[in-house]
Amino acid sequence: MNMHGKVTDNSILKKTIAGLHAKYSHPRRVIILSEFIAAFIKKNIPTEKKLKCLDVGCGDMQIAEHIAGILPNTSWTCIDTFHVPENNIHKDKWVKYIKFDGVTIPFEKKAFDIVLFCDVLHHAGDAMLSLLKQAGCIADYVLIKDHLEYSWYSRFILRLMDIYGNWGYGVSIPRKYFTTHSFRDSIALSELSEMHLHVGIELYPQLPLLRIILKPEYHFIALLKGYEHSLMHK
Ligand SMILES: C[S@@+](CC[C@H](N)C(=O)[O-])C[C@H]1O[C@@H](n2cnc3c(N)ncnc32)[C@H](O)[C@@H]1O
Repeated sequence: MNMHGKVTDNSILKKTIAGLHAKYSHPRRVIILSEFIAAFIKKNIPTEKKLKCLDVGCGDMQIAEHIAGILPNTSWTCIDTFHVPENNIHKDKWVKYIKFDGVTIPFEKKAFDIVLFCDVLHHAGDAMLSLLKQAGCIADYVLIKDHLEYSWYSRFILRLMDIYGNWGYGVSIPRKYFTTHSFRDSIALSELSEMHLHVGIELYPQLPLLRIILKPEYHFIALLKGYEHSLMHK
């Protein structure tokens, strides 16, 4: 089983890349992103009451679990498109996991306070806009961590990064990424409104060379409100 909770196929190359990523990159990524997202929640969302959170495209659920460790007032349900591997089905960890079809989020309106998409939307293809729109109905707040491209070079680097981080796990590699402009268009089409957009997340603070290639500004986090929620708070 891999970091996305999926069983990798038997290709030696894929297994090697997935193994390297799981050992050398994923643990640090999980800690940095979880801390960043938890701080973002704390700063921008009222946290006096318990917050019901849904992690869409949760992978191995480590991000949700780390955030819950930092913010104990958050409870997490996690959904993704893979089956729980047979040998994990009885493990407590997977109680919070639900498999869905990657298209229709299986929850009622206002079932959650927050929906999180962490490095998911650029893999979702044609389902992306619909997933965003549904998220705005299901929760008051939608949190997105994703990538931004600026040129052919940043797209090339991001694709290389995605091949390293996802191809080995059988996750499709996108042809392009959001630009600030296309992200804002997607938000408008999904009837969401932007509360905060933060561009620049430092994933490799102790690796100066990597930091020059994989620039912090290739990562962003955004907090959005569902349309109904925006009207209610006008
Ligand atoms: C880069 S991984 C991120 C996993 C996790 N969110 C994290 O940050 O560690 C991308 C995840 O998106 C999931 N995914 C791809 N398309 C999806 C869709 N249409 N709906 C939900 N999840 C999707 C994949 O199965 C994979 O687990």
